[in-house]
Amino acid sequence: EPPATEPEHRGGVRSGTRAAISAPHLRTDRWWLAPAATAAGLLAFVVYSTWRAFADADYYAAPYVSPFYSPCLAENCEPMRGGPNWELFGGWWGISPAIIILIFPLGFRLTCYYYRKAYYRSFWASPPACAVAEPHAKYTGESRFPLILQNVHRYFFYAALLVACVLTWDTVLAFRDENYAWGHMGLGTLVFLVNIVLIWAYTLSCHSCRHIVGGKLKHFSKHPVRYRMWQWVGRLNARHMQLAWASLISVAVADLYVYLVASGVFDDPRFF
Ligand code: FES
Repeated sequence: EPPATEPEHRGGVRSGTRAAISAPHLRTDRWWLAPAATAAGLLAFVVYSTWRAFADADYYAAPYVSPFYSPCLAENCEPMRGGPNWELFGGWWGISPAIIILIFPLGFRLTCYYYRKAYYRSFWASPPACAVAEPHAKYTGESRFPLILQNVHRYFFYAALLVACVLTWDTVLAFRDENYAWGHMGLGTLVFLVNIVLIWAYTLSCHSCRHIVGGKLKHFSKHPVRYRMWQWVGRLNARHMQLAWASLISVAVADLYVYLVASGVFDDPRFF
């Protein structure tokens, strides 16, 4: 006869092969704080970016274009002189042009290894924290549909490189004044500069980037350049989480700045 304390044969951490501990978990610290803060931060960004992406207004204040709307690929884009404004989609596109391109940065971040951890923990509680059991009875990881699709991350990385190049060009264009004369600088130029540095740092710190740069090599000694680049990317990669948050905030701030100037809340202070 089995001992009375033997747990029921259920799935997950309650299965018969796991230690028979009746407490939901043994953590005594505030383990819920990190997933709760993560959920609040991600939710705030989702609400803000959804509003801005569908607003279809106030995304251009010469010479600045909001990073949510660049490159602008439809005929209904606001005219941005010299900006990445290619009317590939013609006139049939009726809704906000941001929707065309946001799939790329969105897909990159949604499939990012760090953001996966963040939303698996904070939204799906799968698991909510280390040593805290998840409520789901079954765990299949990312080995089957639909989560196996997370593997497309490596391809989104290439798209993200293109997006970073476009935003770099937008930053170059920010060195003009509102009459498109070159060699000027305003507060917006600084906002764009900080944003593009963080966007590049986040993009290059990607785990897929690290693999592309230094993976699949048998001998680092035979590939000294790739080895140096791999070390450099590795150092950035160690800060991937911080860069994910910093660049998420900076891209929202850059968009908000353009919105405030374009909607007439204040004028862009010019330094020279
Ligand atoms: Fe985060 Fe690639 S792992 S961007």
